[in-house]
Amino acid sequence: MEAVSIKNVNFSGKKVIIRLDLNVPLKNGVVADLTRIERIIPSLKMILDANPKYLIILSHLGRPKPKLPSNWTKTESLEPVVETLQNLLGRDVFLLNTPIGPKFMQAMNDLPSGSVIMAENIRFYEGEEKNSQDFAALLSELGDVYVNEAFSCSHRAHASVVGITKYLPCYSGLCFEEELKVLESILVKPTRPVLGIVAGSKVSTKIDLLLNFLNKLDYLFVGGGMANTLLCAQGYKMGGSLVENDRLGVAETILQKAKSSNCKLLLPIDAVVAQKLEPNVATQIVDIDKIGADQAMYDIGPKTLEYLQNTLRLCKTVLWNGPVGVYEVPPFGRGSIAIAELIAQETRENRIISVTGGGDTIAVVGKYASDFTYVSTAGGAFLEWLEGKSLPGIEALKLAQADNTSTLAKGVA
Ligand code: 3PG
Repeated sequence: MEAVSIKNVNFSGKKVIIRLDLNVPLKNGVVADLTRIERIIPSLKMILDANPKYLIILSHLGRPKPKLPSNWTKTESLEPVVETLQNLLGRDVFLLNTPIGPKFMQAMNDLPSGSVIMAENIRFYEGEEKNSQDFAALLSELGDVYVNEAFSCSHRAHASVVGITKYLPCYSGLCFEEELKVLESILVKPTRPVLGIVAGSKVSTKIDLLLNFLNKLDYLFVGGGMANTLLCAQGYKMGGSLVENDRLGVAETILQKAKSSNCKLLLPIDAVVAQKLEPNVATQIVDIDKIGADQAMYDIGPKTLEYLQNTLRLCKTVLWNGPVGVYEVPPFGRGSIAIAELIAQETRENRIISVTGGGDTIAVVGKYASDFTYVSTAGGAFLEWLEGKSLPGIEALKLAQADNTSTLAKGVA
């Protein structure tokens, strides 16, 4: 069952509540990356083109502790986002720093019809993360309909994501819809063969993801520090490389699972090693069984890259999460950048469908992002989806669909 899209709704004269994910990086109080905001503009424009009574934006920023309005701070305010949003949207956005309730309603009703209104950081409210029904009901009183355009928050069972869906006709934003469609197309009904590239520092943070990929994909390459623990469990001496010694049991489970699954598990066969992790330190390239006791692996080597390239050429879809080396310390980002280049080229030449996501991976993909088939802006939600978990925000929207259908039939929305 699919959530109902905003494309199918007439918002004319309605008070439309939209949940956005404006949790964007800030540098010196200024938005440092526009991607998340740019992506939601088409939904906002589509709703505004229909002349709603009001468009009311709910979002969080960061992880502030709930607090009374008298303690709301400027540093945790959505204020810096408002200016960027106004510029991209080309119209005023009114940030109301009054707590949601009768005074907020009054302030909203004092604004001209058609205004875009934003409530302050929704995580200032005690009821948000607790998914309090009272708070969800209070939120719902702001509008006539609810739109979720925050796929990247759909792993959170919070009031503005889940609770509110019980009270109003619910719709999914364009970006939410696209994200869901792409993720379903790569894991539920992918164009095979599919290669997963999963990396990052710790195997312990991605166990469920690896197990799910071994069930679903055709090839799985594991890189980064996570691979060290798997290699160590295979008996390789990893020198001073990052190894989670307390997770060797888990690593063995993953290796066993790989043997019994139809997915081929690939690990690095050579390494870029150094004696310490410092920018532009002297490095050496060694085979994986030749790492010295005083050396540590910080990136994949050229043989691994070639092996990965050959595997990629056998595949029709690639799904990548996590840098394969310590990319923030030069030259140990080279392996990840080479993978980004390779995937970008294969995608440009229409040989492959490529999907990537997760904070660190987006930073690595950098200038190649536009060549990828799809770059998810979601972090935790993207990973939980890849782990095969059902996300409460998606489930809530889907459940609300049945009610929507009857509401639409009654001509309410
Ligand atoms: C994100 O940045 O992934 C979302 O905004 C969710 O944020 P959270 O991890 O603080 O819930």
